[in-house]
Formats: sequence, C-alpha cells, structure tokens
Amino acid sequence: MSRIVIVSNRTPGKGPVAGGLAVALRKVLSEREGFWFGWSGKLTEQPAREARFEDIDGLQVGQIDLTRDDHHAYYAGFSNSILWPSFHLRLDLATIESHWYEGYRRVNHQFARALLPLLKPDDVIWVHDYHLIPLASELRALGARNRIGFYLHIPFPTADALYAIPHHEELMRDLSRYDLVGMQARRDVAAFTEFAEHQMPSTFGGHRSETIDFSRTEVDAFPIGSDPDAFARLSVSPAGTKMVHRMKRALGDQRLILGVDRLDYSKGLPQRVEAYEKLLANNARLRRSVHLLQVAPPSRDSIKEYQETSDTLDAMCGRVMGHFAEPDWQPLTYVKRAYGQPSLAGLYRLAKVGLVTPLRDGMNLVAHEYVGSQNPADPGVLVLSRFAGAAEIFPEALLVNPFDTDETAEALRIALDMPIEERQQRWQALMNAAKHHNVDNWAASFLDRLAPGSMPQSGTRD
Ligand code: G6P
Repeated sequence: MSRIVIVSNRTPGKGPVAGGLAVALRKVLSEREGFWFGWSGKLTEQPAREARFEDIDGLQVGQIDLTRDDHHAYYAGFSNSILWPSFHLRLDLATIESHWYEGYRRVNHQFARALLPLLKPDDVIWVHDYHLIPLASELRALGARNRIGFYLHIPFPTADALYAIPHHEELMRDLSRYDLVGMQARRDVAAFTEFAEHQMPSTFGGHRSETIDFSRTEVDAFPIGSDPDAFARLSVSPAGTKMVHRMKRALGDQRLILGVDRLDYSKGLPQRVEAYEKLLANNARLRRSVHLLQVAPPSRDSIKEYQETSDTLDAMCGRVMGHFAEPDWQPLTYVKRAYGQPSLAGLYRLAKVGLVTPLRDGMNLVAHEYVGSQNPADPGVLVLSRFAGAAEIFPEALLVNPFDTDETAEALRIALDMPIEERQQRWQALMNAAKHHNVDNWAASFLDRLAPGSMPQSGTRD
C-alpha cells in the first residue's frame, strides 16, 4: 500500500492543528506509513532548503524553517489578510497588498523543493488548507507525478469575493493541478462549480479554456467530523469532570449557555453577545437563572482586524455586565484562553445550550463535539448558524441567521424552554449524524477517492 504524506502549514505538536483532525490523521499515518510535512514554527534569517525530521510521539514529522519576511507575507499577509477574509465573504476586512502574493508563492515553492527529495513515486500526497493552494503546481513543476489531493477546511467563496483576490485565476489553475479537491459542504462545491462553469469555461462549460482544464480534477464535498464517541467518553472521564465540579459550584442552579471559538471575526462573537443581551432584556424571568460562558482563545493577534474584534468583544461583554450584573449575579464569563479537550468535553456536557453562531464557517467542529459530549438522558440543545457547513449535517439543531440577533435570542429562549422529549429526539438525530460523519470516515473516504487507480493518473498530463 502506498505511503501517505500529509502537508499542512502547522504540524502536530506545533500549535493549534485541530485536535480531532490531528488524531485522525495520526491514525491514518500509523496504519499506512508515511509522514507529516509543514512549517517548523521557527523563523530564521536564511531560507531553509532542507527539511528536518522529528519524531513526535511516534509520528514522523518533516519541517522547514521560514524567513521572517516570507512567513509574514505568506501567513499573516496573503493567507490570513486576503484569502481568509475573502473566502469568508468579509472583503471589508481584507487588506489587499498584492506583493504578499510573491511571498505566498515563494513559501509554497520552498515547501515543494524541500518535500520533493523525500517522496517515493507512489506516495499519495494530501495537502491541507488555503495556505498551500499552489503546492501541487509547484511540485509538478519540479517533476512530481504522484497523486495529490487538496482539502479546503474553510468555505469556498462566491465569484465576487474570488474576483477580489489578486491572482485568483492562477489560484484556480493551481487547484486544477490536483487530482482531487475536497470541500466541506455542498454549498462550497456549488460555488466552485458555478465559478468554473461561468467564469472559466473548460470541461464544465463545454468550451475548452485555453488556460485552465479541470477535466482531470475531481471536486466533491467531504464533510469533516469529530470523534463523537471519544467526546462522550471524555466528558465523563476524571479529566473531563475536574473543571465541571468547580463550574457546578459556581453556577448553582443557573443554566449554562456555552460558546467555544477561536477569537476570530468569522465566528460572530459580538452578534452572539448581542443576542444574549436581548435574551436577558426580553425575558426578565431568565435573569439570575442563566449564565453565558464564552471561551475564546486569541488567534492571529498580529493582525489588526483580530485585535479590533477582541476590543469589540471586551466592550460588549463589559456593556452586558454593566447593564445586567448584580452584586451577587454575573450574566456572563468571558475567557480568552484555550482549554484542553477533556475540560471542553466536560463543559459541553454541562451546558444546556451549545451556542455555535459563526457568520460563515467551513464546518465548525465545536458543533460536532458538543453533540458528542451530551448526556443521552438529559441532552442540551444545539443552536447553530445556518452559515456553518455543519448546518448541512445537523438540520435538527435550532438553525439561526447569526446576523439576526432577535432570531438568535428567540432560539436561545426556545432552547432553554424545550421539553426533554424534544431535546432527546433532536439530540439522537444529531448524534446519529455526528457518528455517520465521524473524522475516521472522512479521512478514509477522501483517501479512497484519491487512491491510485480510482481516477485517471495525473502524471499523464505533464
Ligand atoms: C482554521 C484553519 C486552519 C488553522 C486554524 C488555526 O481552522 O482552517 O488551517 O490551522 O484555523 O489558525 P492558525 O492561523 O492559528 O493556524
């Protein structure tokens, strides 16, 4: 069986690669052989030409250093100030400095140059996320003929937003150099196909484009998931219940509403706090009997738009406290810190409402983890944004438009008042979906489709 090579900007053990994802891909690598490849987390003066290997808990990880300038242009610049906001339809928050594109390409070229000598001809390469869209082009330019797949963890944008991205045509051409492109949701595949058909007629449109040929690239939705059974176990484990005991004491008989998100403007945190404020304003009976805990570890805080989101949230939480708090009651707790999976699993289980209201999100694994952690006898209610990929998987959640804070406030009230039978029915349907879409199935279905022989060999195109 061919080896698997996983490539992502961050590597396991070097920062927040999503916990469940790292576990699942680690499992793939332990069954299949291969290695993980990515940035070392180190910034140097000189660009590195070769990868260093490290054994991280039995996993082989190849890493390269980047120069400070290249990393800035590639990560904070093109990836997170242009691609991230545009793909999340926040052009108002994008900073378009087109020279960052050169740094982005340079880093992708460095990744390819360091990776190529490590490859065997039949290795299957799986590239992750928007930082590395050009990697297949760069590898193919150096002669790689391997099967290469790409998975986009974030949403695919509408045509208008794509147009706002400098060199978007070249990025689409880069995607056409993969054998398989996986996306989170049907809506993403539809946006991609719409763009390809109308703006770049090639195989899709019937007229063959001079420049971009998607005829050998398969594009499909592979919705990612979590490991709900593992969360169920963790939520009642000693590690999972440690914080819960303290939290229960602090809560008394108040019911917990919980949000867990990176501190990112795509997560709709100010809108969420406003919805909670309206819940308290419209339902005096709920004051003193509910508590919102928002966990929001800081993210990408060198970028101005992230700092501003953090400031906005500070101000809004302060406003709600000033308005509703009493000497012996606080309406909310806002924690800018990351917690480990066991603590989160315990908190998810304690929470009567899981509040997951991103303005736009690829999938949102917090929704999956919340479902996995519930007590089947007395489950909480998931209030979920329609604009998260998870909404396609979880129609039985209370779906809301996160921009409409009246609607979210009312969904919160409905969730808090929901009878136990309805909560159980909804949760059972959600849990079935979470199990069906678990992360192991996700990895297996992507890799099955990418396996040699399942599609035309890409090497023939060069
Ligand atoms: C999202 C992206 C990931 C990224 C993560 C954390 O989930 O899809 O690729 O690793 O955010 O962001 P960071 O910029 O800290 O890597």
